[in-house]
Amino acid sequence: MVMSVRMAPPLPLIVLIMIHGACSQTENVIYSPSHICALKNSSVIMSCTYTYRPGHWIRNVFWTKTLEKVNGEHPDLSKDPEYSQRLQYLGDKQQNCTIRLSHVTMKDSREYYFRFITNKQKLLVFTGEDKWIGKPGVSLTVTDLQVESPERVTEGDSVRLTCKSSCTLTDRATFIWYRNSQLVTTGIIGNQLILWRVSREDTGRYSCGVYGHSYRSPAVQLNIRYPPENPVLSISPSGEIVSGDSVTLICSSDSNPPAEISWFKGRTFVGSGRIFSISKISSDDSGEYKCRSINEHGEKYSDAVTLNVMYPPKSISVSISPSGKIVSGDSVTMICSSDSNPPAEISWFKGRTFVGSGRIYSISKISSDDSGEYKCRSINKHGEKHSDTVTLNVMYPPKKVSVSISPSGEIVSGYSVTLICSSDSNPPAEISWFKGGTFVVNDDSN
Ligand SMILES: *[C@@H]1O[C@H](CO)[C@@H](O)[C@H](O)[C@H]1NC(C)=O
Ligand SMILES: *[C@@H]1O[C@H](CO)[C@@H](O)[C@H](O)[C@H]1NC(C)=O
Repeated sequence: MVMSVRMAPPLPLIVLIMIHGACSQTENVIYSPSHICALKNSSVIMSCTYTYRPGHWIRNVFWTKTLEKVNGEHPDLSKDPEYSQRLQYLGDKQQNCTIRLSHVTMKDSREYYFRFITNKQKLLVFTGEDKWIGKPGVSLTVTDLQVESPERVTEGDSVRLTCKSSCTLTDRATFIWYRNSQLVTTGIIGNQLILWRVSREDTGRYSCGVYGHSYRSPAVQLNIRYPPENPVLSISPSGEIVSGDSVTLICSSDSNPPAEISWFKGRTFVGSGRIFSISKISSDDSGEYKCRSINEHGEKYSDAVTLNVMYPPKSISVSISPSGKIVSGDSVTMICSSDSNPPAEISWFKGRTFVGSGRIYSISKISSDDSGEYKCRSINKHGEKHSDTVTLNVMYPPKKVSVSISPSGEIVSGYSVTLICSSDSNPPAEISWFKGGTFVVNDDSN
């Protein structure tokens, strides 16, 4: 039965279809296109045409955003405070129902309908009305733009950034890209930006937009990882360093992610962190320092920097050569040893009298007059120090031997007479008396 209808439909059914078709064409709304994807803040044209029954007059046309009625009618979009400023009817009261909606927001995403109301007339007499809503309506989707970038980018990688919208833009879009708000001119393919073999200079905030539109996507930070650059070591204070000073060494090295810094004195690890502080520096801290900067992409060493700590003289001492007994006529050398930076000036004193300068004080043919207490003084711009006193005791044979008789003058028998032998020597001499060539007596008392 069904088969036979398809193959040869009875004539009344065909007529019925034709009549119905003719009727449905009299009232109609066509949206073209019926789905619109628009960029946030852009102006959207909703193209629309309509037809109404012959013998009718258009009384009212408007757009609405709902199929529900309020007080018996669909609310007019042009009276909606959220739309009234942005909505412009470009059509007419014949067949064109196009509107423009400007500065669209995400909240505008929904379906919109065109409605018209006609007066039915017969021979210029009002005979009723006709109301029509064009449904389904035109659906509007408003999209923003989002930059999609890879999580992790290392120098040398090629990077693909994508400008994403939630729907495919209805108007043909030419994408534009910004890096730190500056227009990027190369590497744009469709909605993508291709960065070929990135370097750290490509680091920045990237955003995208569409040519002819002011809207821009939020910026996305492209974070490019790279190994440390050669670290630079600086010392504070920058000038001369004196023992007791507080000294700070700073290691600067650009890297991403931030590097771990280690400190070395010579080849010995002494600390870590960007700043290495020595609160009360001493001469022991003098030496060559360098820092090492290391992250997962590589490591680098700074040049070595020499820390030269200045200090006043310390541990001063005097040594005498020869070390034993000194006999007049000997050559005697005294050496003043003192530790200081810079090297000290050395002065020699006998008692309180300045006698010479230089680390070594020599007396080539020593005499008894050179006996005495000596000391040296070591002085540089940071301070001075005196050595302990050393005593030079010069031995010498008797000299100036003389005999005196007391009382002087005429000697009378029976009187006492004293003979005194004077002699200078070191150590004190033994005195012996002779009468003529004959030994008389030893004198221990003197
Ligand atoms: C409807 O009107 C708009 C604005 O005046 C115009 O751009 C469009 O071409 C018209 N559409 C038709 C089908 O006439
Ligand atoms: C929206 O567009 C207008 C011009 O059409 C522009 O002046 C304004 O800055 C835009 N706003 C945003 C947030 O892009």
